Amino acid sequence: MKRSFIREILEHTNNNTISFAGGLPNAKLFPIEQLKKSAQVVLDDTSSLQYGNSTGYEKLKEKIAKLYSDDGFFTTSSNILITSGSQQALDIISRFNSNKNITIETLSYLGAMNVFNLNNMDINTINLQDDGCDIKQFKQSISKTKLAYIIPDFQNPTGISYSDKKREQIASIIKDTNSLVIEDSPYSEIYFEKKFESISQKIPKNSYHLGSFSKVLAPSLRIGWIRADEKLLEPLIAYKEAMDLHTNGLSQFILNNYLEDINEFENHKNKIRKIYSKKMQIFCNFLDEVLPQFEYIKPKGGMFVYGRLEGINTKELVNKCLKDDVLFVPGVEFYINNIKEDEIRFNFTNSTPAQIFKGLNIIKSLIKE
Ligand SMILES: Cc1ncc(COP(=O)(O)O)c(C=O)c1O
Repeated sequence: MKRSFIREILEHTNNNTISFAGGLPNAKLFPIEQLKKSAQVVLDDTSSLQYGNSTGYEKLKEKIAKLYSDDGFFTTSSNILITSGSQQALDIISRFNSNKNITIETLSYLGAMNVFNLNNMDINTINLQDDGCDIKQFKQSISKTKLAYIIPDFQNPTGISYSDKKREQIASIIKDTNSLVIEDSPYSEIYFEKKFESISQKIPKNSYHLGSFSKVLAPSLRIGWIRADEKLLEPLIAYKEAMDLHTNGLSQFILNNYLEDINEFENHKNKIRKIYSKKMQIFCNFLDEVLPQFEYIKPKGGMFVYGRLEGINTKELVNKCLKDDVLFVPGVEFYINNIKEDEIRFNFTNSTPAQIFKGLNIIKSLIKE
């Protein structure tokens, strides 16, 4: 078991660091004033500081359910289990499935792979293509594992999104093989063109849909959730109780109050989409200008640009960059096997245009050394 490289290198950052490494939302966009108001209001009510229900604060569950139903995916509060970030959702489902087999994309989210390993799950990897996973491999693998973990919207780390066709194919394979899918979607609301329909919506009885307020609002709230059929959710509640009884009540109350004004939340999401889309465009323009040899696919949402610097060992490169206060994540960190040494994940949400230009030029000069 290795620690998350990303969390480790984040410990080496200082005020001068230009970081393209973490998946951090831009702190300037946190709706501080609104959250302050919400905190003030909920702290007038002692129940915000009391123990709460294991599955989450009912009013908040209702609001999350409504977000789904408004999108055409019928959901009630009994389909929602609120978790301490979607990271805990992954842990809960994995503990319930410990020692079983699981199909995952390669590359995949490091935090999920660590959870699967810690729960002794036997991981079977399938290739990721430009429009989603390799369907033939998916079919073969899921027929054996019966459980899959995928990130179809603006994937971490690759930024790839599943095409509508592949979403249909995945759903029908899951149904035909009577399997289950964990659809992890923390980035689904950060779309630059269109919102994708979830795979879970096509197979509500065979899916765990994972959501989070970390990327669109504030990660320190630590509020995520699992949306699933009641029968699937029921056995998970004992695991949630064993882990922490319930998710932080004060955070849930503050978030619930913030969401009372749904227009405010919608405007906030629109603002994030617009600003991140612009940042992505600026990042890609500078990439083309400063590092034209970097091959990548432009993301349609999310927070990452992923690509390849042919022939360059990017782990060695980042260790040099670290001394000049520039950070990124080498692609090797996201592989279980089939290691490729010349890939990089860049985060584009957190830097100014001047920092992007400076950071990429430092990388360029260190490649030449
Ligand atoms: C794909 C994916 N899933 C889950 C998480 C965990 O997010 P959180 O626990 O903050 O909701 C992350 C965070 O970066 C992620 O990228």
